[in-house]
Amino acid sequence: MSTGADAPRSGPIHPRLLAMMMAGRYYGLELDPIDYRGEGGETAPNAAALSTWAQGAGMWSRAVRLRWRHLMGLQGAGPVVLLFNDGTAGLLIGANPEHKIVMVRDPRAPEADPPVPVDEMRLSEVWNGEAILVRAQRGHADADPPFTLRSLFGLVMLEGKSLRDLFVASVALSFLTIFPPLMVMTVIDKVMTYRSYSTLALISTILAIMILYETLLGHARRLIMLIVGVRVDAKLNLHVFNRLIRLPLDYFERHPAGETMYKITQVHQVRQFITGKLMSTFLDLITLAVLAPILFWLNATLAWIVVVCSALIMLIILAYLRPMRMIFGRVITAETNKSATLGETIFGIKTVKSLALEPQRKAQWDERVAEVGKWRLAFGKLSSWPQTLVTPIERFMWVGIVMIGAYMALADDTGVAIGGLFAFMMLSQRVSTPLVGLARLIEEWEEVGGAMGQAADVLNRPLEIDNAGTGVRPRFSGAVAFEDVTFTYPGTKVPALNKISFDIPAGTMLGLVGRSGSGKSTITRLLQGINREYSGFVKIDGADLRAINLRHLRSSFGVVLQENFLFRGSIRDNILAGRPGLTLDDAIRAARLAGAEEFIERMPNGYETYIEEGSPNLSGGQRQRLAIARAVITDPRILILDEATSALDPESEALVNANLLRIARGRTMFIVSHRLSSLVDCDQIMVLDKGQLLDIAPHEVLLERCSVYRQLWAQQNRHLDKPGARNAASS
Ligand SMILES: Nc1ncnc2c1ncn2[C@@H]1O[C@H](COP(=O)(O)OP(=O)(O)O)[C@@H](O)[C@H]1O
Ligand SMILES: [Mg+2]
Repeated sequence: MSTGADAPRSGPIHPRLLAMMMAGRYYGLELDPIDYRGEGGETAPNAAALSTWAQGAGMWSRAVRLRWRHLMGLQGAGPVVLLFNDGTAGLLIGANPEHKIVMVRDPRAPEADPPVPVDEMRLSEVWNGEAILVRAQRGHADADPPFTLRSLFGLVMLEGKSLRDLFVASVALSFLTIFPPLMVMTVIDKVMTYRSYSTLALISTILAIMILYETLLGHARRLIMLIVGVRVDAKLNLHVFNRLIRLPLDYFERHPAGETMYKITQVHQVRQFITGKLMSTFLDLITLAVLAPILFWLNATLAWIVVVCSALIMLIILAYLRPMRMIFGRVITAETNKSATLGETIFGIKTVKSLALEPQRKAQWDERVAEVGKWRLAFGKLSSWPQTLVTPIERFMWVGIVMIGAYMALADDTGVAIGGLFAFMMLSQRVSTPLVGLARLIEEWEEVGGAMGQAADVLNRPLEIDNAGTGVRPRFSGAVAFEDVTFTYPGTKVPALNKISFDIPAGTMLGLVGRSGSGKSTITRLLQGINREYSGFVKIDGADLRAINLRHLRSSFGVVLQENFLFRGSIRDNILAGRPGLTLDDAIRAARLAGAEEFIERMPNGYETYIEEGSPNLSGGQRQRLAIARAVITDPRILILDEATSALDPESEALVNANLLRIARGRTMFIVSHRLSSLVDCDQIMVLDKGQLLDIAPHEVLLERCSVYRQLWAQQNRHLDKPGARNAASS
């Protein structure tokens, strides 16, 4: 087996990990022992952690308990990892029910060794049934559907049990609301007519009990709605963040953070609508369905009046929908712009303050606020019209019914009983609420559609990694080749890279120089798979970059940029950055490699010192060294330093540079720097100009043959050897 040879820092790989890796390889997936996250204090990797490890690498995996007869049935189903009692593992690769044996391979045995046949007796001595199943992941297209109203509904519908309770409670409530008016009817008609005290007492008792029930049921209904809302919100939060974080970097570069944040929050507005307004209106409609027949039974004429009035109300509200939607679109746009301004100002506050841009920012803010105010006002004005028109109709419905009902009672004293009229009045009040609610709902539906569009605009963009299981996961050694690579940023005309070809062996320390905008960063971006719409080939160890699993690719790199974000937390947390399976010892080793150890140890709490973005207790040089420590902690095969020392003072730069040679040992380095003197030790230096590769060679050779390089060098080192430079130029 070759796996033992390329073991990570921590010695030989545990046989259980080896067995899992062999099983993975059967399906063409390379599991990386670095990613394995065991629980502290365990003697041997446990089944759950192993299966989580495989899932993290994009496989389907389950920890199971099997019996002998299960093993017989597993014939031809691919390898199964058997966890033995002594903490080791074996790979079950076949079964023969006729001879009652299974074929087991020892993961530590040389690959050429045949598997060992084992019978039930012998297996039961070393194995008590613990096993792990692994498979290649099938494409799970439906696991992550696009974000639409329908999918949001689906999310709500998942709360089936609570929804059913809600439904039952609402139907019960509806019936309970019908009874009191009918009781009143009885009281008036019977009690008044026959003056029966006992009937009155009975009816009063029943009414009291029903009020109690109604109170309790109403409380339960609100509680259930709340629970459904909270649960859906939690799921939504997970889903939204999960999608957001998988958007390509490109997206974040093109959209201000404030805009994205605002749009994302719209999701919750939609959710609130669905589990709030929408649901309660729907439940009110249940009441309506129960009420309507009774109204018609009580008095058909009056019932028709109610229906006509309600229909009028709905028509008025519907008529205002379209103009209101248009204006609401403006409100949303204005709001988005406003929060973008706020976000930009906060994120760029250093620049704002140091350039004394406060007045300009304030002016912009004023403008944005005014814009929002203007459209909100317009929207408010317009939306008050339907309210205005609806009010008289609503009032007529109540008062008119009384008048007409009274008239009917007077005109025809056999047809309409006074008690029935009272009951009708009480009930008809309950009709208008759900109907008006329904109309308002349709009105609000427009708003929600807008909010949904905003959220979907962010959430339904193509994701960067569609499936964690796609792509190969080779173990890199670090040879990089570009073949005829041409790349143009979307939205620009001039290619940022133009037919770039080069080829460097693993372990090369490569310097990249060139004027600003010449394409140095773009080369490193293509290499990391940030931009993927290039023509030509980028190859790592001969494998096409596009075929490599993106997460695997990125985790094989260490990257240090000019500005590196430090997360809130201790220095140790920042170096480890939450990567699984790493300890303080790893952090210390990385800090030492990055030359950060001396200053960390001088800090008040050492590795536990608390830092955050913009922390005043770190200098620029210290931040960069922390960033380098964070980049090298996983021992990446390829390290990219893009102007990592450009913002540093000469002393800090010298410190970092002094460590570079040490860091470079055993890995491929891409060092972008505009200070050529820090690159003289590089194996190769690449000179770029306007997206073209002018030359690639060691320093001495470039001085000889590349005029652009010579020029840059002379510019930066004029103070050193003026006569020499003049000699070179004249010769
Ligand atoms: N995200 C981007 N969108 C559009 N154009 C870009 C983007 N990043 C860089 N460019 C353009 O691509 C060219 C190369 O940029 P870059 O590789 O960053 O140069 P360097 O790192 O050498 O300064 C420049 O002309 C730059 O304007
Ligand atoms: Mg750059």
